Amino acid sequence: MRRNRRTPWLRRLVQENQLSVDDLIWPIFVVDGENQRQPIPSMPGVDRLSVDLVADAVGGAVDLGIPVVALFPYTDPDLKTPDGREALNPENLVCRATRAVRDSGIDVGVLCDVALDPYNSDGHDGLVADGIILNDETVEILSQQALVQAEAGCDIMAPSDMMDGRVAAIRSALDGKGFQDVAVMSYAAKYASAFYGPFRDAVGATGALKGDKKTYQMDPGNTDEALREVAMDISEGADMVMVKPGLPYLDVVQRVKQSFGMPTFAYNVSGEYAMLRGAGDQGWIDYDKTVLEMLTGFKRAGADGILTYHAVDAAKLLKSG
Ligand code: PBG
Repeated sequence: MRRNRRTPWLRRLVQENQLSVDDLIWPIFVVDGENQRQPIPSMPGVDRLSVDLVADAVGGAVDLGIPVVALFPYTDPDLKTPDGREALNPENLVCRATRAVRDSGIDVGVLCDVALDPYNSDGHDGLVADGIILNDETVEILSQQALVQAEAGCDIMAPSDMMDGRVAAIRSALDGKGFQDVAVMSYAAKYASAFYGPFRDAVGATGALKGDKKTYQMDPGNTDEALREVAMDISEGADMVMVKPGLPYLDVVQRVKQSFGMPTFAYNVSGEYAMLRGAGDQGWIDYDKTVLEMLTGFKRAGADGILTYHAVDAAKLLKSG
């Protein structure tokens, strides 16, 4: 076996899976104000950016070859309500940031989450009544949220809410308003995970969240169920599917890719970022090398792309060889 590992050119020749900058989607957190760059304590190296800084940051990422950015809002607590109505405000942070990217003329894909948790005073992805997350009422609002985001110029809607039937509803709402070209990347198999902790800090949902999300997000012990979730979203019109979190669920990524052959994405979530970054900052691991090795693992599992907070670092590392 060692004959094929003897030299760098041989190793390149026989390499089976390769990470490319084309595989990376970079999530960006947006905050109100001007010239704001707010560090997120649980995600060292990741800042919330005000809208005026977003296009510049996106431009830098695109110069490195990153094809898509994902925009997430840190919503002012005063704007959070039980009905999450700020989600439908065409002037909300995500819409303003999307428009700023569109107005800049940068050739980049913009992906936006569809879910209520950044806007809901209970911190949940849907409407809450007596502690129950209402499915169909939520789906109705999510469809409107998708329209508001499409009007702002979003290319890919990513419903992350895990309500039943939302992909079909969003697809039909988009088609009904002439947004046939707007794609849906569904968070199809999304688990109720503790790895989302730093993200909830980043969007200011940590203190807000009442209870947990186990009545809509999946049980970490299940994989057959993930395949049923994915099959449903595909039948409802999803163009691309996602598994989330990533690292602890690469078996799910592999099964989804092998079962459906769909464009399959994995979300290398905030807690996974924090683990690597934290250990790297302590000098306990080599951050640069582990980032590339880890992202290559996603490719080996079958992911076509990866949403990752390491995207810019990884793109630079790939460029420098
Ligand atoms: C919101 C949403 C979450 C993430 C992406 N969209 C958090 C959650 O479901 O509580 C997590 C991303 C991350 O941890 O990086 N529905």
